Amino acid sequence: MESTLTPEAALASLAWQIELGATEAIGDAPVDRYALPDRQATTPKQATPAPAAAAEPRTPETTGDDPVTAATTASAGATTLDALRAALGTYPHCALRHGARNLVFADGLPGARVMVIGEAPGREEDIEGRPFVGRAGQLLDRMFAAIGLGRGATTPQDALYIANVLPWRPPQNRDPNADEIAMMRPFMARHVALANPDIVVLMGNISCEAGLGRRGITRLRGHWAEAYGKPALPMFHPAYLLRNPAAKREAWADLLALKARLTGGA
Ligand code: URA
Repeated sequence: MESTLTPEAALASLAWQIELGATEAIGDAPVDRYALPDRQATTPKQATPAPAAAAEPRTPETTGDDPVTAATTASAGATTLDALRAALGTYPHCALRHGARNLVFADGLPGARVMVIGEAPGREEDIEGRPFVGRAGQLLDRMFAAIGLGRGATTPQDALYIANVLPWRPPQNRDPNADEIAMMRPFMARHVALANPDIVVLMGNISCEAGLGRRGITRLRGHWAEAYGKPALPMFHPAYLLRNPAAKREAWADLLALKARLTGGA
């Protein structure tokens, strides 16, 4: 049967599937499902293939490791940021790694006075292997540029260092679950210790849950706290600001509070 889809509709349908999280075509050649009704009806049902994660030889079950203990041990052994990235690369317990194209470790200047901690990579970040490069990232860059900070700057007082609680993209950009956050927390604690910023900015609820042990960004934002042994400022996530532009007013107040703290005025 001829497809009734116009090229434009087919493209729109493809874009929609990509937006939903599809990252691969299932087969190399297109399948005309209308041409196979009889065969499909009579073909014996195939056993459901095991999920990719089940093929991974090193799992908590096979290694006997508790994921959080294993993360604590692996991250404690890393004495440089490169070693920490390598430790994450071989950490076997987080199933998200199987669905991600890239490990998204960090961007910007290690040693910057301000370290921004986001949630998890999205589609663009997964493709590029760098945090905050999509629409939310572009807003983040504009927000911090407004107070004179940028990830491309080369001096610690003008620069940003940016990382995420989760270094792998969750499928369909779902929120990371409590187990995933708990097993990544030791890595982030070590990441902060090695990058050694003066201040961490916790972007959104997931970042607050990892850093402060609680959510509720609407109440937490703008109130200085302590996370990973550093002064911490919770802020609205730029993705939230894209959906709720009215909240940019509060975000601006938080940026000014950050600037004042950096210049010794608060
Ligand atoms: N949102 C995040 O929290 N981090 C990214 O890297 C991109 C979007």
